[in-house]
Amino acid sequence: MDKILIRGGHPLHGKVFVRGAKNAALPLMAAALLSETPCVLHNIPCLHDVFTLDKILSGMGMRIDFTGRSMNLDASDVACQEAPYDLVRRMRASFFVLGPLLGRFGKARVSLPGGCAIGTRPVDIHLTGLEALGASIAIEDGYVVASGRLKGADFTLDYPSVGATENLLMAACRAEGVTRLSNAAREPEIVDVAAFLNRMGAQISGAGTDLITVVGVDALGGAEHSVIPDRIETGTFLLAGVATHGDVTVQNAHADHLASFLKKLRETGAEIEVTGTHIRARAVNGFRSTDITTQPYPGFPTDLQAQTMAMLCVAEGASVIREMVFENRFMQVAELMRMGADIDLDGNTAVVRGVKALSGAPVMASDLRASAALVLAGLVAEKGETAVARVYHIDRGYERIEERLNALGADIQRVR
Ligand code: UD1
Repeated sequence: MDKILIRGGHPLHGKVFVRGAKNAALPLMAAALLSETPCVLHNIPCLHDVFTLDKILSGMGMRIDFTGRSMNLDASDVACQEAPYDLVRRMRASFFVLGPLLGRFGKARVSLPGGCAIGTRPVDIHLTGLEALGASIAIEDGYVVASGRLKGADFTLDYPSVGATENLLMAACRAEGVTRLSNAAREPEIVDVAAFLNRMGAQISGAGTDLITVVGVDALGGAEHSVIPDRIETGTFLLAGVATHGDVTVQNAHADHLASFLKKLRETGAEIEVTGTHIRARAVNGFRSTDITTQPYPGFPTDLQAQTMAMLCVAEGASVIREMVFENRFMQVAELMRMGADIDLDGNTAVVRGVKALSGAPVMASDLRASAALVLAGLVAEKGETAVARVYHIDRGYERIEERLNALGADIQRVR
């Protein structure tokens, strides 16, 4: 298994181009299942999660050609409506195929995703929502077996779940009549999925607000669409610049998708400059603590919590971090402490007291964002070498992270 070796202590400088958003690309690929004719998606990132979904969709009979960063998806001959456990267990986002399969074919058999390192992550909202649209749902041998012709309905999500909003949005496009989703998630990735579906002929309004209205249509056809830039990758590179007291500009970014994150970064004393699609972050004179509470969008993103914690480990003063989205998303804490961080953990709250310096250590990645946090900590560590094991987690969500950080002046190597 690969490891990433980092010799830290080098301030990062320069420009880095952000890739397409993983969390938009995956539901967009699933949405192509709804189309009777071929679709094209541009700016698709080369990530393990994308390859996993490619396998699931190809297994159903979708023809996929992924060349460069563009993907042609042809779902005209999809003959199988099943997503097997062996692939779904690798990635929860595989569950996105349920809504489009049910919407288009009136049937689907999709493995339950199960738990993961950051919590049990149930799918109850996905399922009650589909039932509200008229689906019959049974759980058989670890699979969700869903069937029925869908009818538009009013449904209020108990919690603004991103995945449930996307699944229901896709299913509702082919339901008969009007669906209103209240307390819907408002993430930019949902707006992106709705934009693609509308290009395919769907009638969706209100995406990006907590009330989404979908007027069902009889068929959806081919469309072309470019994936939005990845706001989490953007934030991670900006944090790497600030945490190493460097000066990093992320190109092709959407600053308005990161408003609450950038506000917090500014509170630490980092200088943030937004010029069109460029975001520059500098902290040549150091930075101070800040308090963070993760929330659904437009609040502070849970997907940037671990990486921000890595930076706050060496801030001046103490920071309080509250994780309000997932029940177990502090997997990075024990590893950061092995590198010399001073963190007290109590339930969903962490108190991070800034220390002068971290030192390199062998550490273990436990999930995607925690592994990015360990890489950042390794970049910050002033002495020793950090060896991050289980880097397959990071390859799920960051494309060639070591090459891109090295281009900014880091000293990182991937070894077998
Ligand atoms: C998506 C993102 C993930 C991000 C998360 C929150 C993708 C592929 N993944 O995950 O990177 O961290 O949003 O921004 O887009 N919940 C329930 N019942 C449900 C569904 C969710 O209780 O039916 C709970 C979850 O356990 C969790 C919270 O709701 O505590 C948020 O989950 P959700 O918004 O659904 O996240 P995902 O869509 O899985």
